[in-house]
Amino acid sequence: MKIVRSIAEMRDMVADWRRMDATVGLVPTMGGLHAGHLSLVHMAGERSDKVIATLFVNPAQFSADEDFDAYPRNEDDDCRMFEEAGASLLFAPPIEEVYPADHVTKVHVGGLSSLLEGEFRPQFFTGVATVVSKLLIQAMADVAVFGEKDYQQLQVIRRMARDLDIPTEIIGAPTVREHDGLAMSSRNRYLSEDERPRAAKLFSAISDIARATAEGADPAPLCDAAARQLTEAGFREVDYVTVRDAKTLEHYRCSEGPGRVLAAAWLGKARLIDNVAV
Ligand code: PAF
Repeated sequence: MKIVRSIAEMRDMVADWRRMDATVGLVPTMGGLHAGHLSLVHMAGERSDKVIATLFVNPAQFSADEDFDAYPRNEDDDCRMFEEAGASLLFAPPIEEVYPADHVTKVHVGGLSSLLEGEFRPQFFTGVATVVSKLLIQAMADVAVFGEKDYQQLQVIRRMARDLDIPTEIIGAPTVREHDGLAMSSRNRYLSEDERPRAAKLFSAISDIARATAEGADPAPLCDAAARQLTEAGFREVDYVTVRDAKTLEHYRCSEGPGRVLAAAWLGKARLIDNVAV
C-alpha cells in the first residue's frame, strides 16, 4: 500500500489506474481504526478494483470544546490495518493540504444538517460535508463507502453528493457491533471498565423500540421510557432517542416509508450514538 500526503500524488495514482481501466473506491476515515472501518474497506474492495483509504482528523467538524486533540491518532497501526484489509493507497494529508491558510469555502447541507446531531453539534455536518466533498472531488472515485453507524452523516453525504452533482456512488455499510451489541466506534475507548458493559444498553433500548414500532406501537412513549431507562442505567445525559423517517429524518409516519430509531447519549466521557432500522 502506497502512502501519499498530497492531492497531486493521489490524483496521479488515480490517473494511472484509470489508464488501466481500473475502477476506484474511496473510504474516508479519521483513523482510530476498528473492525467497522475495515468492513468499509472490504466493501469498497468488493465494489471496485482499487481502494483509497483516507486518514485525516478533520478539525472543521469539531467544536472548540470537543475532543479534536484527544482523538485517537496512531498512523502506524492504522496503516497496517488498512493494508491488511486490502487498501491500495492511503491518502493521509497534513492539515495545510486540506485547508490552506486562505481557504474560505464551506459546504452546508440545508435541512438535514440542523436536525438531531445538528442540534447538539451545530458545526458538525458543515465540517463533514466540506471535507467529504473535497475528498470526493480530489479522488473522483466511482464509489465511496461510509458506515451506517453515523446514519445521519450518511444521509447528509448522499444529499450533498446529489446536490453538487458529484458522480460518485455513495454506499452505506452496516454497523459492525461488539459481541453484546455495542456499535464499534473510535470513541468507545473513552469508556471506563465499569461503563463498558452498560454501554450496550443503548443498542438494546433502540432495538426494542424498533421491534415495537414495527408491530404498530406508538414510538413517542417508548422513546421517553427508553431515555428514562438509560438514565437509570447510568447514562449521564440522553441527547435524544427518537424514531424518524429513514430518508428525511423528519417526523416518522409508518404509512410514508421506512423508519429509523436514532439515539445519542453520554456515558462518562463518551458520547455514544447508534441507530437501527424499524
Ligand atoms: O465518519 C468519519 O469518520 C468522518 O466524519 C468522515 C466521514 C471521515 C469525515 O471526516
